[in-house]
Amino acid sequence: MNDSPSTAPLLRVTDLRKDYVARGFGRTTSVTHAVKGVSFDIEAGQTYALVGESGSGKTTTGRMICRLEDITSGSVELDGHDYTHEPERELRRSLRGSVQMVFQDPFSALNPRKTIGAAIEETLRIRGMGASRDERHDLAVAALERVGFSQWHYGRYPHQFSGGQLQRVSVARSLAVRPRLVVLDESVSALDVSIQAQVLNLLQELKTEFSLSYLFITHDLSVVRFMADRIGVLRMGEMVEEGDVSQIFEHPQSEYTRLLLGSVPIPDPTRRQLVS
Ligand SMILES: Nc1ncnc2c1ncn2[C@@H]1O[C@H](COP(=O)(O)OP(=O)(O)OP(=O)(O)O)[C@@H](O)[C@H]1O
Ligand SMILES: [Mg+2]
Repeated sequence: MNDSPSTAPLLRVTDLRKDYVARGFGRTTSVTHAVKGVSFDIEAGQTYALVGESGSGKTTTGRMICRLEDITSGSVELDGHDYTHEPERELRRSLRGSVQMVFQDPFSALNPRKTIGAAIEETLRIRGMGASRDERHDLAVAALERVGFSQWHYGRYPHQFSGGQLQRVSVARSLAVRPRLVVLDESVSALDVSIQAQVLNLLQELKTEFSLSYLFITHDLSVVRFMADRIGVLRMGEMVEEGDVSQIFEHPQSEYTRLLLGSVPIPDPTRRQLVS
């Protein structure tokens, strides 16, 4: 534990590393050094954007912060509390709920056989929120209403929503448990530009309303300028540059960052275009 938690940042990531070991015939055949000693802080109320080309280690870093991935070495601290190797049981109290992840594809994040209301209620129940079913029902409805739905949407199934709507459902579910940090991994990348803007605006509103901090993972630098306070640039698992948003955009120090800023996003034809 940190001696002075009041001065600790909300999230502190120190020398984080991830090796993926592929085994063949019981022997180690190859090791991928996906994240190679990444360090950064996120202050309360900040949006920190993690950018970099495909395969640079953004998702792996985000998943380690959420403890969805084992950490090879280094440490992660929330409010000065080190949870790097905390067992799942303790993690449930200290982290689960406080840190939430919103993924790129909301269809795969939700159970197709469960209504969205039931899905939110289940998340609340797992996190120990709401004293009764009725209370959890009311909390779920309130969460849906906050992202622009009515109580009538509660009983609907994921396939009855568009991609943009479903991403709002995912946001509602994440926020229902009152997190402090939300990790958004390419959460708007699959959406049409106009729908993207709606979801980004909503995220900005919710951030203020619920005093949230965001770790915003993306390869799309055009949305970063709108969203972020600070930016970390990853390349091949290493942080090549870090700074305030204006500093990175106006005075990028590395050639790689300049290339990222200069690159025009090319639409990926394999990605579904979702319309609300
Ligand atoms: N489960 C895994 N097993 C083995 N290697 C993996 C695994 N997940 C990721 N990797 C490797 O780790 C590296 C970093 O991957 P990661 O998914 O974190 O990148 P990313 O920056 O999120 O990329 P993208 O922009 O394409 O989402 C890549 O070389 C990737 O192939
Ligand atoms: Mg990724």
